[in-house]
Amino acid sequence: MTQQVEALGQTPGSAPGTYGVAFTGSGSAKLECVLSNDQLAEIVETSDEWIATRTGIRQRHIAGPDDSIRSLGGEAAAAAIAQANLTPSDIDLILLATSTPDDLFGSACQIQHEIGATRAIAFDITAACSGFVFALVTAAQFIRTGAYQNVVVIGADILSRLTDWGDRRTCVLFGDGAGAIVMQRCEGSDRLLSFDMHSDGSMNDCLNAAYRHQSVPLAGDITYQQGQFDPVTMNGREVYRFAVNRVPEVLEKSLFYASLTTDDIDWLILHQANQRILDAVAKRLGIPAERVVSNMAQHGNTDAASIPIALDEWVRAGKIKSGDTLALSGFGAGLSWGAAILKWGL
Ligand code: ACO
Repeated sequence: MTQQVEALGQTPGSAPGTYGVAFTGSGSAKLECVLSNDQLAEIVETSDEWIATRTGIRQRHIAGPDDSIRSLGGEAAAAAIAQANLTPSDIDLILLATSTPDDLFGSACQIQHEIGATRAIAFDITAACSGFVFALVTAAQFIRTGAYQNVVVIGADILSRLTDWGDRRTCVLFGDGAGAIVMQRCEGSDRLLSFDMHSDGSMNDCLNAAYRHQSVPLAGDITYQQGQFDPVTMNGREVYRFAVNRVPEVLEKSLFYASLTTDDIDWLILHQANQRILDAVAKRLGIPAERVVSNMAQHGNTDAASIPIALDEWVRAGKIKSGDTLALSGFGAGLSWGAAILKWGL
């Protein structure tokens, strides 16, 4: 590992900037509609027993007619801002990780207006289930250079929009939700201890929601290409293999960059895709089950929202405390995967 790092000539995941980063608030949206495994068994040929045994999921939340990325993301962001003892007008930057925006041009600006963060610039980041970790790392770069002081990072997805509700191999996995954190500039030590991120587009076919188009004559020889996005398709076994191999690697590398070991991790917060993936990763890293955050029984896989929702639930339950060391890892479509090691709080 040391040789690999020397070959790179740098340790990107631990390189400090001029200013430090602190993690000062979390929030999540409350969705009323709950869809149980038994209800799903009325739609496709499946059972509560199959879904729970293979994935750990018992239910998921589904966005209602009045819910949107704007409303759910805004609710999560407002709760995080309040927990950080800030007001929306204190916010300089809003990063929204989502694959299901209300507007393909981006929903971050809609959230900016929704919460009244009139000074903030806002934009979307699309990296599926890695999106929240990638957005958190992006936010840290703006804070470390001194460009922005108070940043909200949101993970929000309404995957029910992209789900094929007739495909039992995928529809049992996904749910809707939104979570957010506040990151702030601090003069003291930098609480983002390290990160590592990867992409491998050669495996894109394993998991995607591709745009399909057809040629339509326009004028002369010119055609325009128009179509629509397919629902999510996934090679579950390939993605499972990818996750249980790449996620421990990226966490080990991040721990190395931070000069920490797995014993230093208070809470492991993985993207909530499958309980069997969480168990396999924790076992390979030697992290006991009681330090692994899991809420997928209640929420299923909420894409970019899964890590910030889990984090917020553990913070609000008083389990994650200021000073705790958190290891986050997102993985999924792209394919993409990444990890961040941080200390929660000021
Ligand atoms: N109910 C009942 N039977 C089912 C269901 C279901 N819902 N789904 C599949 N089956 C059947 C299959 O048809 C197959 O039957 P067959 O052997 O007769 O063909 C059998 O169960 C086994 O299917 P597998 O796909 O091999 O099941 P597996 O144990 O691999 O579990 C799962 C499938 C849960 C999808 C698993 O592969 C997985 O979790 N993969 C990783 C998913 C993931 O991590 N995604 C992350 C990112 S998501 C994102 O980025 C948006």
